[in-house]
Amino acid sequence: MTEPITEQLSDPESAREEGRRKMDWASQHMPILESLRETFEDERPFEGERIGMAMHVEAKTAVLAETLAAAGAEVAITGCNPLSTHDDVSAALDAVAGVTSYARRGVGDEEYYEAIESVIAHEPTITVDDGMDLVAAIHEDYPELIDTIVGGAEETTTGVHRLRAMDEDGELDYPVFAVNDTPMKRLFDNVHGTGESSLASIAMTTNLSWAGKTVVVAGYGYCGKGVARKAAGQNADVVVTEVEPRRALEAHMEGYEVMPMAEAAEEGDVFITTTGNRDVIVEEHFERMDDGVLLANAGHFDVEIDLDALGDLAVDTYEARDGVQAYELDDGRRLNVLAEGRLVNLATPVALGHPVEVMDQSFGVQAVVVRELVENGDAYEAGVHEVPDELDEEVAEIKLAAEGVEFDELTDTQAEYMDSWQHGT
Ligand code: NAI
Repeated sequence: MTEPITEQLSDPESAREEGRRKMDWASQHMPILESLRETFEDERPFEGERIGMAMHVEAKTAVLAETLAAAGAEVAITGCNPLSTHDDVSAALDAVAGVTSYARRGVGDEEYYEAIESVIAHEPTITVDDGMDLVAAIHEDYPELIDTIVGGAEETTTGVHRLRAMDEDGELDYPVFAVNDTPMKRLFDNVHGTGESSLASIAMTTNLSWAGKTVVVAGYGYCGKGVARKAAGQNADVVVTEVEPRRALEAHMEGYEVMPMAEAAEEGDVFITTTGNRDVIVEEHFERMDDGVLLANAGHFDVEIDLDALGDLAVDTYEARDGVQAYELDDGRRLNVLAEGRLVNLATPVALGHPVEVMDQSFGVQAVVVRELVENGDAYEAGVHEVPDELDEEVAEIKLAAEGVEFDELTDTQAEYMDSWQHGT
């Protein structure tokens, strides 16, 4: 078991102050959570619930955790990636009434999983995951808790894939909402969030320009589309690699060059993986790359770039800049890996994750999904569930109202027409 972060830091007081400042800034730009929080504070709908969270612990996530605690829940939280925690934010969160934070940046594998166990020791009634680590640990090691778990919510594509695989094998024993798959999350967070924050993080970490570079984007899913579009917007030439024919065609019709990674390896200056798959960039590709290329992963796990193979090929490796590890090959070429091949937009030393506004939407969906579990959890059987569309719409409406954007409503006649099969020519 791990101690809460406050017990682990030498100067928790000053860390807390800085973390609080970051959270206050984020919350000023999170009108959806603010609106939900106002109602939650009045009604305290989560009183008696214990919410276990494993997410990237930085300012926006902290605002979500605080919002859930304001609704009356006891919240225990840890990271979902050893490099994405902001210790100051974790400390500030740990000081919030009703919240215990175990997240700490830079932990090894053992401490990482100990912190997950510390969250589970709170015996959560609801789990909120980014990558399914809590669900996996509970099913593997603490199945006795499942009876009292109302349900869970999953934030990311990789977590939803893993949950679906578990569900298909008949192994998922409580209901989990696929928050990732909602329009309010995926069309904004995966596309704009990953695009903007990955490029910003790479630029700040390297101090290099996008203009005139060839950027190879592996995977043209939601995240890949965002990365490709934003890179093109920064005057880079974009090359896309794909394994799915329709997505490859989509990228081609959008005007990007599409080619196998074996060819792209020779073209690229910067490589960004967004596949959620493993071994996307491997030895045969390293062998063809130019001196000085940048290698970054914007998918969930650190398995997209084969760093073991790169380590074996290298005759020397050293930290070229904070967050950049150079691998020097025997012919003198240097291949530069950012953030140890982990999520580049969250795990470089300067990374801030997605823009605040985007996370307000994703976490707005998380908050209404937790409310749905508390209010109607019994209605959902074990397995992966789509988030009810009206909840997603509710979050969109709060955001539009906050932005001062008005929009049209169907008239009764239009609604009837849209629902009818009898109206023809
Ligand atoms: P997606 O399923 O829409 O797209 C993934 C694409 O990669 C698919 O089109 C697939 O055909 C392609 N692909 C798979 N294997 C490939 C290979 N070997 N070579 C080339 N293409 C390949 O998924 P989405 O939503 O774009 O998410 C992708 C990953 O990013 C997931 O791991 C997800 O969890 C993660 N993610 C990361 C975020 C971040 O902050 N960096 C935010 C949201 C998601």
